[in-house]
Amino acid sequence: MELLVARDYEDMSRKAAEIIADQLRSKPESVLGLATGSTPLGTYEQLVKMYRDEKLSFSEASAFNLDEYYGLSPEHEQSYSHYMKANLFRHIDIKPENIHIPNGMAEDMPGECENYDRLIEKKGGIDLQLLGVGANGHIGFNEPDKELQVNTHLVRLTEDTIRANSRFFNSADEVPVMAVTMGLGSIMKAKRILLLASGSNKAEVIARIISGKCSTRLPASILQVHPGVTVIVDSEIGNYLKETGGFKNV
Ligand code: GLP
Repeated sequence: MELLVARDYEDMSRKAAEIIADQLRSKPESVLGLATGSTPLGTYEQLVKMYRDEKLSFSEASAFNLDEYYGLSPEHEQSYSHYMKANLFRHIDIKPENIHIPNGMAEDMPGECENYDRLIEKKGGIDLQLLGVGANGHIGFNEPDKELQVNTHLVRLTEDTIRANSRFFNSADEVPVMAVTMGLGSIMKAKRILLLASGSNKAEVIARIISGKCSTRLPASILQVHPGVTVIVDSEIGNYLKETGGFKNV
């Protein structure tokens, strides 16, 4: 694992956007794996800026999002489909046919999941996967459990995740209890992975993720065995890692 300590959220976002931009410049037809949540918002803002000011093009690229809430239509304001359109896709030149987000309303969910994995494979796999992390160590919506799923699947969200994500809804009751997520297989097959985290509330989970031990109870810890992971954190997390000796495994 490579660990980069950025000054702050802005700097973390800029560094992440630069890595994504370099990927697109060296391979315009890159397959990007994209994430939602508050963490990548600054990265998307930077990418939109690069598209406008530096003519960074997404016209040959494809995108696969990690996950989607089960039962929310793409038009729902809290759906990840809506998030991606609002924060990235409608501001850049990516072709609509190259945008892929799991359909949380699919009638045949096993078929939808199988198709999603097949499509990723058909495109040659993910070149660069962007990740945030849940405070409980989930990536995508791969929640801590006795076992982890390899393929795209329907998952029941944990109480922790529902509580954490309720900040985007009017109340916790409105948060869908299930989601469709890429499994650890598609994520781990990505050629390169970029994990972003900022703020003191993510410090402990990052320290555990890079601790040198893997556990299905902490899904993101599996990233330690991937050969191409870059973790970008802000100085709050960087200082915590320094104080707790968390640097020694990266
Ligand atoms: C959600 C998403 C994850 C994301 C996580 C953390 O649950 N499914 O992909 O990484 O939230 O979100 P945030 O960046 O808002 O802390």
